[in-house]
Amino acid sequence: MNTLLLSGTNDKDIQTAAQVLASGGLCAIPTETVYGLAADAYNGQAVKKIFEAKGRPQDNPLIVHISDISALYDLWDYVPEQALRLAQEFWPGPLTMVMKKTDKIPHEVSCGLDTVGVRFPEHPVARRVIELAGVPLAAPSANLSGKPSPTLASHVVEDMQGRIDAILDGGACQVGVESTVVDMTGDVPRVLRPGAVTEEMIAEVLGDACTDPAVEGGLKEGEAARSPGMKYRHYAPDSPVTLLCGAPDDTAKTAIAQPAASVICFDEYAADFEVAGFRVVNIGSSWDHAMHARRIFDALRLSDGGDKIYVQCPRRVGMGAATVNRLMRAASFDAVRCTSYPIIGVTGRSGSGKSYLSACIGERLNLPVFDSDMEYKKMLDSNGEMTRAILAAFPEADAGGKVDRRVLGGIVFRDKSKKALLESITHPQVAAAAREFAYANGGAVLDVPLLFESGIDRMCTVTLGVVAPEKLIHERICTRDCISADAAALRLSAQPDIKYYFDRCDMIVKNNGDSQASLDKILSKLTKI
Ligand code: TXA
Ligand code: MG
Repeated sequence: MNTLLLSGTNDKDIQTAAQVLASGGLCAIPTETVYGLAADAYNGQAVKKIFEAKGRPQDNPLIVHISDISALYDLWDYVPEQALRLAQEFWPGPLTMVMKKTDKIPHEVSCGLDTVGVRFPEHPVARRVIELAGVPLAAPSANLSGKPSPTLASHVVEDMQGRIDAILDGGACQVGVESTVVDMTGDVPRVLRPGAVTEEMIAEVLGDACTDPAVEGGLKEGEAARSPGMKYRHYAPDSPVTLLCGAPDDTAKTAIAQPAASVICFDEYAADFEVAGFRVVNIGSSWDHAMHARRIFDALRLSDGGDKIYVQCPRRVGMGAATVNRLMRAASFDAVRCTSYPIIGVTGRSGSGKSYLSACIGERLNLPVFDSDMEYKKMLDSNGEMTRAILAAFPEADAGGKVDRRVLGGIVFRDKSKKALLESITHPQVAAAAREFAYANGGAVLDVPLLFESGIDRMCTVTLGVVAPEKLIHERICTRDCISADAAALRLSAQPDIKYYFDRCDMIVKNNGDSQASLDKILSKLTKI
């Protein structure tokens, strides 16, 4: 079969793709999650060809894609209020909802189940194709069954050229892992496959949500899968994959000590792995869960071909849960734990309540707290290694072998490069002290305002960001530190905004008076990572 290669930037080509679909053909289309292999969902014969092209097991049902919420009424027997609320919040987007189907859905789509999963994708090319085809589109990921899902048109070409009618190129998929699948048939929405719309996000809208136990552990012998896709070996390159779990510093150390052909690693460690002779595929900074998701399937393809692939495993929180879920299956659950005790990094803006929360967490988990500000001051006041290094770089601040903090502050406050120079001395020193503390105590809570800047986040098994309303923070700083409103505002303006913490931290604690309740939730999650 000659496979047409079409461009999503050309509307004529999109029309051609829609014609192929409307006349019973198969066309791979871009979505924001992964590329889908689409067919007219109402045409059983067309849908059958999807299974042949992919080599997909006959009992694994397909997701139906729509471009308008009202299409739900054709596909579902009953449209519950809860589903409409999720649709309003997350559609168009990476969420698939499962409900009882109507008779319009052929057996070939649902594979014998009485339910169907429906999704309204966000990708403009996907929406346009669905609209032009004039029918809902059944589409699994456009990979050969068992292979990593395609996030670039070139991946689809690799797997599907000669097997399908057309491939519509819409560029790189922005989310990079498949949609969240949530079963809406019960009282509580149940996540069957984690994705960019997390269980927490669903619970925030509907008050409650849960995750099917099979998502994390895989199925036990003899257990039936609620979502048939759970039971197959998935996303796997040819080379065996081993996941290294734990703090990024530790997973890097473990991999470097046991050379293998390839490593999928965080950006911070790419140079070290190159020196050690690995084929290196990096997937973003260690904290960047969205980037890991975007790159993971491409990374699994790129790293294939050698004796073994090591993967520095992202943390299983927020969007990280989706990436880890795919990786666990790619590795057939071969995962090694590289950090033996909990190291919990806590950060946030000044006055957000970091120290209070660190103390609560420490008490509940029976871990000592390391206060980096206090340690830093102690180190400055002593005449240890750090003091000597600072005085060598800033002789103006030498007050008889001690650091004159006021003079030093005056220098670095005015000059960014001087500040960077000072931090290049202090960060590694504070990090070394934090590491020593955590290792000596068999784990710790690290209360560190500059958690990411200092690199201390990389020795943590999990990072928490504490956020509080701006007004509250402002008041707290004024009273706590006895400073004027202007001085408090100046101090806050020098710190990153809240988004910085939302982007980087594994979990966010909202410290707005009800910290005990949100703390309980966080603690139950912490024990699972
Ligand atoms: O992001 C996505 O969802 C992509 C793009 C193309 O939209 N599609 C996708 O489809 O990932 P697929 O077929 O690779 O995965 C569909 C998953 C499978 O795990 C399947 O078992 C589950 O959804 N599923 C489909 N229909 C279901 C149903 N009625 N009940 C439970 N699980 C269902
Ligand atoms: Mg798939």
